[in-house]
Amino acid sequence: MQLKLNNFTKTFGEVTVIDGMDLTVNDGEMMALLGPSGCGKSTTLFTICGIHRMNGGDLHFGDRDVTHLPSQQRNVGVVFQNYALYPHMDIRDNIAFPLKVQKQDSATIKRKVNEIAELVHIPELLDRKPAQLSGGQQQRVALARALVRQPDVLLLDEPLANLDAKLRLEMRSEIRRIQLETGITAILVTHDQVEAMSMCDRIALMRDGKIEQLSEPSEMYNNPANTFVAGFLGNPPISFVNAQVAGGSFTFGDNTVAIAEALKPRVGGEVQLGIRPEHFGPQFGTGVTGKISFVETQGREDLYNVTLNSGGMIRSIQPAGERLKMGDAVSWGVSPEAVLAFDTSGDRL
Ligand SMILES: Nc1ncnc2c1ncn2[C@@H]1O[C@H](COP(=O)(O)OP(=O)(O)O)[C@@H](O)[C@H]1O
Ligand SMILES: [Mg+2]
Repeated sequence: MQLKLNNFTKTFGEVTVIDGMDLTVNDGEMMALLGPSGCGKSTTLFTICGIHRMNGGDLHFGDRDVTHLPSQQRNVGVVFQNYALYPHMDIRDNIAFPLKVQKQDSATIKRKVNEIAELVHIPELLDRKPAQLSGGQQQRVALARALVRQPDVLLLDEPLANLDAKLRLEMRSEIRRIQLETGITAILVTHDQVEAMSMCDRIALMRDGKIEQLSEPSEMYNNPANTFVAGFLGNPPISFVNAQVAGGSFTFGDNTVAIAEALKPRVGGEVQLGIRPEHFGPQFGTGVTGKISFVETQGREDLYNVTLNSGGMIRSIQPAGERLKMGDAVSWGVSPEAVLAFDTSGDRL
């Protein structure tokens, strides 16, 4: 079911946390609300689920205006970071709880609990208590409880934050599988760009209560609207250097990088260049000189920081091989087609 926020405003006392946000999540889509801590992601999610009241704007689920409905009447499933399972109830009763609140009959409850336990792959855990489950299993129970009522939308607030790295990886694909199998419209709140990119159809990247860009993950990565977006996606992150446009090239100190034809009409004077680590290295020729100031191997790849002779630093990622050392001098190239150019205030050129 489509979810639509129009001109949504939220204030706490004097402080405006969300100022006139518009957001449409399509039927069956999984949307990430991504952004740094404190930008208003949870506030948005809590408002959609009815925990917070809106100070302005409206919210529709399909044709239904739910702006003024209490949480119980909105038909949303929510998974919080801490799962919020009831510790004294076994797993079966935890999952059944929303159905018991609705006073569904016991045969129906039993059938629905069994079905949803199959879906999230926990049928063998139904008689245990939450404390007897691992973090990943508790996460599955929380998902089952959120989904058992067949809600119109599924809301997930940092659902993977409490899991260790390996489980996080597993649950990333599991949550996506379950979302795709049920076809439910979902919003995932996360500060982790990898989660947003790997799990979601589109990403709304937020800063200070506003959406900076809303795009598919690869589009946001390749075509960021500004330096904030460019810097938020990508690990190791993009590097920025200040440059001038002169004689068909970007120049910074003694370094020159060719300007792609398509970019030429749009740039002039002072610019900021954004160079991703996969676009700087010996495979792109020479022309940018500096010294290796940091080396880290990640097994399959080596990461380098190159501190430029002219000042500033550009990261590089290279297939693991003969490793350079700190202090080694290099003259590497930049892929001109891949350079992103921004004006001095950070907007994309
Ligand atoms: N109940 C509240 N009362 C007052 N301020 C709040 C409340 N909840 C959140 N805030 C403030 O709103 C801003 C956004 O918070 P939040 O939505 O939790 O951010 P995020 O989830 O993106 O980390 C923060 O500055 C936070 O301090
Ligand atoms: Mg939050």
